[in-house]
Amino acid sequence: MNIPKSFASDNNSGVHPLVLKALADVNHGHYTGYGDDPFTEVAIQKFRQLLGKNIEVFFVYNGTGANTVLINTVTRSYNSIICPASSHINVDECGAPGAASGCKVEFVYTEDGKLTPELVNSMLLGIGFEHHSQPKVVSITQSTELGTLYSLEELRTLCDFCHDNNLLVHMDGARIANAAVALNCTFKEMTTDTGIDLLSFGGTKNGMMFGEAAIFFRPELAADFKYFRKQNMQLHSKMRYISAQFSALLTDELWYKNARHSNDMAQLLYKELQNVIGIKITRPCYVNSVFAILPEKVIPRLQQKYFFYVWDEHTNEVRFMTTFDTTEDDINNFVKALNEELGRQQSEPASLLRG
Ligand SMILES: Cc1ncc(COP(=O)(O)O)c(C=O)c1O
Repeated sequence: MNIPKSFASDNNSGVHPLVLKALADVNHGHYTGYGDDPFTEVAIQKFRQLLGKNIEVFFVYNGTGANTVLINTVTRSYNSIICPASSHINVDECGAPGAASGCKVEFVYTEDGKLTPELVNSMLLGIGFEHHSQPKVVSITQSTELGTLYSLEELRTLCDFCHDNNLLVHMDGARIANAAVALNCTFKEMTTDTGIDLLSFGGTKNGMMFGEAAIFFRPELAADFKYFRKQNMQLHSKMRYISAQFSALLTDELWYKNARHSNDMAQLLYKELQNVIGIKITRPCYVNSVFAILPEKVIPRLQQKYFFYVWDEHTNEVRFMTTFDTTEDDINNFVKALNEELGRQQSEPASLLRG
């Protein structure tokens, strides 16, 4: 069956063949469950090679789980978490980090989805005052939900500010591979070396079937993680099937190839959309997302052929995402379908266009 690929999200794609092979390769014999197996040890060592020896690594099912259990582990219920209004932890996790930890989620409006020391500072009120939640974690996303990036310098400055104010910095790295490719830097330069304390390292959006890594750059913070992981139902019993996927992703730079391709395809889409009359591209393209405003009528019609999400219902801004298996043909066909819908809309009587 030849169904056109979706441009909705990088988690709409399938699994990279090398990841599937890795799953098949560990599918033999019996091994102790819950992570006490040799495959998990190998995957953890691969993370240590990438990020440095002094880290603690745990595997969980999904990105919401990584964010939630990390935050849960380092906070108490009277704390607050500072994040951008557009962050996944604020808008797309059904309140999980706040519900699990009991913390108040304090969000800040930002145009580009990024926090700055000034914005964080504006939230540091009532410190030591028993009537106020006490800020503990600043959560940022790299690359952000709006497709923007923190430079290494911005990360360093933000981490320094946070540490000076007794705050921990959590990075939601659901798309950290796309960010590393775009910034042309290593994971270590982006995290260990900038001062990030906690990292949700994404695997699913970069070709895995499921699984994310929760990483502590200060091991002393990790002591209670295993209890919170279990309590939050993120402990996978047949752990080797997550670990093997990560090992595949971190072997021969598969993570890089997947993210490179995905970013390149977004660039191509971005370029092609510049020639489409009747739409407005709304944001620069740095990673694997392209944002544009489409005529209202065109959106549901195009969605019937190629699914994608409306990002802002008020403005008809939509988000197109590419992934490791998006092809040039997919993009050309998609742009053709968009042009057809735009043409169809123009030829219709005005009365049909309202609504
Ligand atoms: C920025 C960000 N963080 C985390 C996630 C992980 O979410 P999930 O719990 O669906 O794996 C996503 C997925 O869309 C995301 O975009």
